[in-house]
Amino acid sequence: MSGRYHERFRGGARRGFARCALILGAAALAALLLAACAGGQPDVLRPGGSGAQKIVTLTLQIVSILSVVLLTVWILLAIVIIKGRRRPESEASQTRGNLGIEILWTAIPAIIVAVLLILTVHTTLQIALPNRGAQFTSVGHQWWWEFDFPSESFKTANEVYVPVDRPVSIDLKSTDVIHSFWVPQMGGKVDMNPGHVNHVRFVPLKTGRYLGECSEFCGVQHGRMRFLFIVTTPEKYSAWMHDQALPARTPTGAEAVAGGQLIPTIACGSCHTIRGTTMKGTFGPDLTHFGSRSGIAAFTLLNTPQNLLAWLQDPQKVKPECKMPQIPLPLQEQQQLVAYLEELK
Ligand code: CUA
Repeated sequence: MSGRYHERFRGGARRGFARCALILGAAALAALLLAACAGGQPDVLRPGGSGAQKIVTLTLQIVSILSVVLLTVWILLAIVIIKGRRRPESEASQTRGNLGIEILWTAIPAIIVAVLLILTVHTTLQIALPNRGAQFTSVGHQWWWEFDFPSESFKTANEVYVPVDRPVSIDLKSTDVIHSFWVPQMGGKVDMNPGHVNHVRFVPLKTGRYLGECSEFCGVQHGRMRFLFIVTTPEKYSAWMHDQALPARTPTGAEAVAGGQLIPTIACGSCHTIRGTTMKGTFGPDLTHFGSRSGIAAFTLLNTPQNLLAWLQDPQKVKPECKMPQIPLPLQEQQQLVAYLEELK
C-alpha cells in the first residue's frame, strides 16, 4: 500500500516537474519573442531624464536585494535536500512552536519589505520636483497629442522640443477620456484626466529623440497614440520655439500654391488650424508647421509625401475609427494638398 502510494506520489511529482518545466520554457520563449518584438521601442533601462534615471537605480537596488534573497533560499533548499537524502527514512525533527524560529522568519521578511518600502518612498520623493510653473500643456485627444505653449501663443501636435539640463514642467489635460502621458526614458507615467489638471516634472539629461506614448487604454487606437519628445540644446530649442510661433509659410512650388488655394475651400478648416490662413478648427491637430514634424497621425506613419497621400486618401484604412474622415478628391488635388502640407516647415 505504502509502496504504491510512493510510486503514485513520485509519478505525480514527475508530471508536476514536467508541467513546471513546460511553463518555464513557454515563459522564457515569450520573453525572448517580446524582446525581439520590442526592437525600436524605448529602452527604459537607458534613461535620458532624471525621473527615469532614479527609477532605473531603484529597480537595480530592488533586483539586487531580491536576488540575494532568492539565492539564499536556493542555497538553503539545496542544503536541506542533499542532507535529507543522506539520512535514513525517518520523520524530520519538528520545529512547531519554536518561538525563536517563528520570530526570526517573521522578522527577516518584515525587515526586507521595510527596506524596499524606504527605498521606494525615498525615490518617489526625489522624483517629485518643486513646482516652478508649467512651460506648456499637453492635451490628450483620441488619438493624438496637443502641445500648447500659451505664453508664445502657439500649439503644435505629436512632436515637442525641450532644452537639455533644464527642469521641464508640463501640465496634463484630456479632452475626452483618460489618457496617460509617458516618455519611458524621461520618467514615470502620469494620467491625463478630463476636467482635472495633472503635472509631470523632470530634468532631461541627454539630448536625443525619445518616443512618448499613451499608457492608459483609451479606445481602439490607443496603441497608435505616440509622440516624439526631442531633447535638444538650448540654442536649437530657442530656434524651434521661434519657428513654431511664426504663422504658416507661403507656399512656393506650383503644386503647393494650388494646394494652399484648395485647402480652405474643402472641409479641412472645420477641424484644423493653419495660422495665417482662414483655417481655425480646433478639433484636430494644428497643421501650421506640419512639414517640420517627423510623423503623421500620432506617429502611426513617418512623414513622407507617399505616406501623407495614403493617409489623405483613406485615413480609416491607416488608423481605423480615427476621427479623420475620408474626403473624396481627385488624385491631382490630393497631390496638391500633399505638396502644400509638406512645405509647411
Ligand atoms: Cu490615449 Cu491610450
